[in-house]
Amino acid sequence: MNLDALYTLTHGLYVLGACKGERLVGSIVDAVMQTANKPVVISLSCSNTSYTKECIEESGEFSLSVLGKTINPFIVANFGFQTSRKVDKWQNVDYELIDGLPYLKDNLAIFRCKVLQKIVFDSNTLFVAEVIMAESGNCPDKPLTYLDYRSYFKNDVMDSFKKHIEGKESKMTKDNNGKKWVCTVCGYVYDGDVPFEELPEDWVCPLCGVDKTLFELQEV
Ligand SMILES: Cc1cc2nc3c(=O)[nH]c(=O)nc-3n(C[C@H](O)[C@H](O)[C@H](O)COP(=O)(O)O)c2cc1C
Repeated sequence: MNLDALYTLTHGLYVLGACKGERLVGSIVDAVMQTANKPVVISLSCSNTSYTKECIEESGEFSLSVLGKTINPFIVANFGFQTSRKVDKWQNVDYELIDGLPYLKDNLAIFRCKVLQKIVFDSNTLFVAEVIMAESGNCPDKPLTYLDYRSYFKNDVMDSFKKHIEGKESKMTKDNNGKKWVCTVCGYVYDGDVPFEELPEDWVCPLCGVDKTLFELQEV
């Protein structure tokens, strides 16, 4: 079987949004298609490794924001190259929250979907979902396709992500001068992707549960 043949099946690119309680999660997806007109139903295929997929299984709903050809490449990198398990991706972009679900401000259209059924494969989970809200965006762009991504957009996406990571690393080195944030109660050394200063005020030490004020910068 020639698996490259599957690349001729090309869709758009979308930012998928979901939530886990108050926490917003999301990823880039291309495997979306309209499946019925009445009711309006779409199918979405999520990798079983995706944290957004886990959150959709729990909450039963998700949002989609359709990307246009002039989208900032970092949007694709932000949502496609890192996991919401570790990073608050929505904090890095302009978004609007509608009834608890996040939508990218820069969109061609947005959809809110309610899961009707799921089919689980070894690699992916297919969600069949009813579209309960659909709005056109006000930007006169054409949809960005997966083919666009593969043929010319991917390099820009990778460059934008490299710049983002380098920026974060140099900020961390400059700010902390090589030191690490250490819990003064239990000795836990913070090593997350989000700079310690940007963690929310209610963040607590994962080992002993004390708050951020009991951490200090130390040589380790
Ligand atoms: C161009 C592109 C298309 C993608 N298409 C899908 C897709 O259709 N389904 C999917 O589950 N993941 C897809 N991904 C991968 C996820 O976006 C990626 O694994 C993401 O980091 C998952 O984040 P999460 O763990 O926060 O859900 C795609 C990534 C890129 C860059």
